[in-house]
Amino acid sequence: MQIASNIVILPPVKLIGMHVYTNRPEISSAVAKHKENGLKIGFVPTMGALHRGHASLFNFALKNCDVVVVSIFVNPTQFNNPQDLETYPRDLQKDLEFLESINPELLVFAPSTTTIYGNNVKALDFDFEGLNQVMEGAFRPGHFEGVATVLKYLFEIVNPDMAFFGEKDYQQLQIINKLVEIEKLSVKIIGCPISRHEDGLAESSRNTRLTEKQREASPFIYKTLMQAKEHFNDQSVEDVVHFVEQEFASKEQLELEYFEIAHAATLAHTTQKKPDEKYRAFIAVFAGDVRLIDNIALN
Ligand code: PAJ
Repeated sequence: MQIASNIVILPPVKLIGMHVYTNRPEISSAVAKHKENGLKIGFVPTMGALHRGHASLFNFALKNCDVVVVSIFVNPTQFNNPQDLETYPRDLQKDLEFLESINPELLVFAPSTTTIYGNNVKALDFDFEGLNQVMEGAFRPGHFEGVATVLKYLFEIVNPDMAFFGEKDYQQLQIINKLVEIEKLSVKIIGCPISRHEDGLAESSRNTRLTEKQREASPFIYKTLMQAKEHFNDQSVEDVVHFVEQEFASKEQLELEYFEIAHAATLAHTTQKKPDEKYRAFIAVFAGDVRLIDNIALN
């Protein structure tokens, strides 16, 4: 069967053996029926361009829930750069084949923008108590409001018991925890470990856009994070930051956007270590015009 885009499919359609839901009532009632039968519903929201990092979340969800819904939706309100939205890779057929190879029982929800937003493609306002103002939030204004808006809508439609997110986007994970608290949602949020290539580079749909030279250089990001973690044992925050900045200053192919050490829960910027506090290091690096992010627990 030919698919022109995810907008024209009438739901639910059988594609290569998998059900693809594209409208609200059908996915909502499919989930409701499973719930009536006492089954536990897991949910993994994605923007497609699926890779092994996503697969680790699907497998986590499949282990912990009876039925797993995967959404594929490139959410316009979380892109602060219109060109980024336009060039975001979209290949539903390929994603479905990937999902089927993992487990053909997965329920796929691939809505159109109108199905999610109607005619009002806008982010809602939230008070994230500063979580959205640092790091990714500072460099991508409005991004997390867009993420939270689409997740609020998706949670309403899918109504899952549990939802799974990667620590790869650690700040996003903390924002989602805050969203659940603010909106008093009943979904349980589960953070899953970062899935990496053998050389340490965090899996990402953006990695396919790297040139051969950039790809060869990029494991340096995780290598430096691990060194920073080691230094964090016996050096000051300032010295660790200085070390990382120096490492990148002479590195070809990679340009450091930010390196930051923050409290793991509040993401508040830190300059001094306190005993019994949990810290995490966050990094964003440009390889040409490809922006890569990563993070690591420091203690
Ligand atoms: P997307 O970038 O497609 O990522 C979907 C989920 O996969 C997120 O929870 C992300 O953290 C996780 N993920 C990506 N790469 C990973 C890796 N290497 N290891 C572990 N998990 C990884 O994040 C989004 O989409 C969107 O913002 C979304 C939450 C769907 C809202 O639109």
